[in-house]
Amino acid sequence: MRKHIVGNWKMNGSVALLREVLDQVRDEAFAADVSVCVPFPYLSEVQQRLSSSQIKVGAQDVSEYDDGAYTGEVSARMLKDVGSRLAIVGHSERRRYFGESDAAVASKLARLLEVGLYGIYCVGETLAERDAGRAEARIEAQLAPLHALLARGATASQFCIAYEPVWAIGTGRAASGEQVAVMHEFIKRCLGPAFAVLYGGSVKAGNASALLTLPGVDGVLVGGASLDAKEFSGICRAAGC
Ligand code: PGA
Repeated sequence: MRKHIVGNWKMNGSVALLREVLDQVRDEAFAADVSVCVPFPYLSEVQQRLSSSQIKVGAQDVSEYDDGAYTGEVSARMLKDVGSRLAIVGHSERRRYFGESDAAVASKLARLLEVGLYGIYCVGETLAERDAGRAEARIEAQLAPLHALLARGATASQFCIAYEPVWAIGTGRAASGEQVAVMHEFIKRCLGPAFAVLYGGSVKAGNASALLTLPGVDGVLVGGASLDAKEFSGICRAAGC
């Protein structure tokens, strides 16, 4: 199976930066599925710049509601309308700073699937939870609301899971190979072996190949390194080996 490499720009970038980064990577023929998830205001610009590229554009969030009187929200239909192919939901920064619950994140995923967008559902434990031996229990709780979606017919072709330990995000301290392999295996046991599981947390060109060749790792979600064309293309190339 081709690996999936997803860049998550978070609340970073500018029109100038997206031109600089995308112009360097858009014509490369990577042996992986590559996507970039950018802030809402840049979706159209990125979609246009990538129209002849294999790289897909995605969003970093979506409303849990359908179109209507929800000031400040962006619906799944709107994302699709401007050319997005996918969206991240439930990133730990959204859970932590914006109080998103597991149930709300699952509703967001449901909205994506209804309009035919691919979802990346993020899960991850804090360091305190890991140190207390509760990492698997936390992940299981985050996955729990997905069972209702599966019962309604959602499949592994419509969404994947991103395992992002909170303590590994933006810290330069990626999880160890053993920690990653064990948790990916656990997630696949919870949902079914067909579900792709991406790893995220301090992925760089230098450690991408080691992470991507671990059992159960179907791709990576890349934050900081996706803002640097050389780093990001290095990661995408590592996925083809
Ligand atoms: P990082 O972020 O690669 O900068 O650690 C990953 C993420 O938050 O998706």
